[in-house]
Amino acid sequence: MAPEFTPLPTYKKFATLPPNLDPAKLPRHVAVIMDGNGRWARQRGLPRVMGHRQGTETLKDLLRCCKDWGIPALTVYAFSTENWQRPKEEVNFLLLLFENVLGQELAELMRQDVRLQFIGNLVDLPASLAEQIQRSMTLTQNNRGVTFTVATNYGGRQEIVQACQRIAMEVQCGHFSVDEITAELLERYLYTRGLPDPDLLIRTSGEMRVSNFLLWQLAYTEIYVTPTLWPDFDREEFYRALLAYQQRERRFGKI
Ligand code: IPE
Ligand code: IPE
Ligand code: MG
Repeated sequence: MAPEFTPLPTYKKFATLPPNLDPAKLPRHVAVIMDGNGRWARQRGLPRVMGHRQGTETLKDLLRCCKDWGIPALTVYAFSTENWQRPKEEVNFLLLLFENVLGQELAELMRQDVRLQFIGNLVDLPASLAEQIQRSMTLTQNNRGVTFTVATNYGGRQEIVQACQRIAMEVQCGHFSVDEITAELLERYLYTRGLPDPDLLIRTSGEMRVSNFLLWQLAYTEIYVTPTLWPDFDREEFYRALLAYQQRERRFGKI
């Protein structure tokens, strides 16, 4: 009997950097607004949360892809300070999903040499999740592969406000004066301290907005929006985004 034909999974087709991408011009830092999980589920007659579950599979492969293709930093928006306004069941599901996935994937992240960071107002997360986050950040802190940053209970405005509060406190204590406050100094008080600004922002599901993500850091980021829903965003889609990025002319205000 003839063996059954199994098509190659997409990731096998894109196991290494596609030849028409220039390895010298890859973004050093890619940020992603992972949107459209709810719509993906609705299209299939499933509860919204099934979209979130499927979305974690997409994320796992994107992270592996960054390693395979040589992109050193990936930052994703997992939960915004505004997402608390969703139904309680959905919020609880998401928080539990983060905790479970983190527990399941920690060994794999170590194997892949991933340095995991969380940014956002982490103290307001449920205690068990906050502990899991701290544990995983400590465990992976000396890894030298991809720097993977997950924005959880993150809001760009909140990030800037907390930076201002801490700077004001330093001034009050006499550690430095008001005219020593510069953009460089302020950046040291942001959650993203030490990370380069994103070169590329990808938003899935077609919405043309930043939804309070990395407001400071996105000042000169190239933005790529695709109608593809997050659970369907695969390596081929990522390839398209990188191709579009490499065709952009970045000016930074110059001519
Ligand atoms: C993004 O998908 C995931 C989170 C915001 C947590 P959504 O849940 O926003 O999906 P849509 O936008 O309703 O389709
Ligand atoms: C942004 O998506 C937040 C995350 C992806 C975590 P939303 O779905 O919350 O954004 P809006 O409400 O469409 O602006
Ligand atoms: Mg959405």
